[in-house]
Amino acid sequence: MSGIVGFLGNRSAVPILLDCLDTLDYRGYDSAGIAVSDTQHIEIRKTVGRVKDLRTHLLREPVKQGTLGIGHTRWATHGTPSVTNSHPLTGCDHRFTVVHNGIIENYPQVRRMLAKEGHIFKTETDTEVIPHLLEEYDTGDLETTVQKVLPMLKGSFALAIMSEAQPDMIVAVSQDNPLVLGLGRREAFLASDIPALLPYTRQIYPIKNGEIATLTPGKVTLKQMDGTVVEPAYSLADETVYDMLQHDYEHYMLKEIFDQPKALEDTLANRLTPDGVQLPELEKVWMAEALQTLRRIDIVASGTSNHAGIIGKKALEKVLGLPVEVSYSSEFIHEHARLDEKALVILLSQSGETADTLSALREAKKWGCPTLAITNTAGSTISRKADCTLLTKAGPELAVASTKAYTSQIAALMLLSLWMAQELETGDEEQREKLLMALNRLPRDVDSTLVMTHDAIDQFAQLIDDQEHLFLIGRGLDYVLALEGALKIQEVAYIHADAYAAGEMKHGTMALITPGVPVIALATQQRVFDKTISNIKEVKARDAFVVGITRVGDDLLAEEVDEVMYIPDTHPLLMPILAAIPLQLLAYYSGKVRGHAVDRPRNLAKSLTVE
Ligand code: F6R
Repeated sequence: MSGIVGFLGNRSAVPILLDCLDTLDYRGYDSAGIAVSDTQHIEIRKTVGRVKDLRTHLLREPVKQGTLGIGHTRWATHGTPSVTNSHPLTGCDHRFTVVHNGIIENYPQVRRMLAKEGHIFKTETDTEVIPHLLEEYDTGDLETTVQKVLPMLKGSFALAIMSEAQPDMIVAVSQDNPLVLGLGRREAFLASDIPALLPYTRQIYPIKNGEIATLTPGKVTLKQMDGTVVEPAYSLADETVYDMLQHDYEHYMLKEIFDQPKALEDTLANRLTPDGVQLPELEKVWMAEALQTLRRIDIVASGTSNHAGIIGKKALEKVLGLPVEVSYSSEFIHEHARLDEKALVILLSQSGETADTLSALREAKKWGCPTLAITNTAGSTISRKADCTLLTKAGPELAVASTKAYTSQIAALMLLSLWMAQELETGDEEQREKLLMALNRLPRDVDSTLVMTHDAIDQFAQLIDDQEHLFLIGRGLDYVLALEGALKIQEVAYIHADAYAAGEMKHGTMALITPGVPVIALATQQRVFDKTISNIKEVKARDAFVVGITRVGDDLLAEEVDEVMYIPDTHPLLMPILAAIPLQLLAYYSGKVRGHAVDRPRNLAKSLTVE
């Protein structure tokens, strides 16, 4: 999984390519590279590490001034992060230069076939088969060569290709993998996502499967595989001027944690109205009659989005009374309950590009299910392919660890539950009213939570800076939150953090509790508060160092734990949003105190477009 960019115009390509790559750095940061042409020759520079390392490398070894080029930032899938495996890649004789995002699934077969023809491979990547194939089937014209070779490739991929024989041209294709074409004044851009292009153009066109875009000076042509010319229907990217600056924050992750009151406010704005919840984007697709026939809902998502989905399940079940199943996208594609047109499948994906979730969407469509995407990225692949989309409006999330997108997803699922109940005229109206009121207060409650927990968490992170293990326990929704807290702490602080249903500790895990081991006890759910207290007593009896998180007013917890942190009281379904804040802060400060690259955790990437 990686990010790719391209530029062709009258200006110097290098700064533009690097700038766009900087925005895509969240997609992978194992290596970065560019290929630039002065319309005579193509020059390549690449390095292990991030785009900033490539900038340094270019200072030492600059390229000639060029007005077109392609670039890549890599998350290693096939082959270690090395200069050799970095993109752009060439074949035997530098005739073709390729950057690639995705996976070429049949590369072993293609590689074997090409090796028999005498091609010598230098890298461990799947990508390398592409320049070799282009050489093997070279027609003398880049566009027709690409047309010839594409049907031989299986998998999901986005490619930008240059040719030494036509060094004033870039050819781009996308097959189940995002690639956006941007149009400026006598210049054109390519990028794996829209935000990378926003500083340059808002006129965008996501390249579709089976289309080939050819960029030449002053002209962009879009063709189908059979050569039929297509008129690209450019649209105007969201007018929001995204605030992508770090401002005074040391890292994006901290900024994004603090962005949450605004992210939630924007997600709820104009949707929470005095007449209930308004979701016109769904009304267009689903009339109440279609909803009446629903017999089950499946929520499918990966990682943090999956945790948001489990909280959504509780809301949907409570408010609608329909059975809701939550699956990991990577599992759903192999196994799921009986699906048909009466099962709604909700795809939850912050990026809207996660390959596992995209495959799950295909699976759902195969069975004729109505599909709804909940995503933070308008125009993303999942959003385009689902029947309809409910957007979270958290703004771009640039740190790899998801924070504001996660809490916005939960808020969107609450809106959806309320809207569906309204449309179906089902459920307890008084209960719905309580949730509505709590949602109205949510951004302010999140703000208060930040103030109430920030300093204490910073200190706690320093206190446990030598600990390698940490446990999070809770019951009901607190357990779901514990799962998310553990993931965040593992991801950013590299601490072995495990989440347990508090009542389950005694069935095995208690054996791991040793004196001084930190345990975060979540006790925000009134319904299970007393039972959670009993479980806390059990770990305390084994001398664990217990930090409790509970609602203002629940003073009982303070007597049982070593330290207690209070958060505002709200509707039980929204407590996981508030209680997520101290856990996000703990992940952040623990990562920081241990000297980790908190915005770019090792071995990870933001948007995983490989399965
Ligand atoms: C963790 C995190 C990941 C993502 C997961 C799915 O902080 O961000 O677990 O939630 O990779 O990504 P999306 O939501 O883009 O499908």
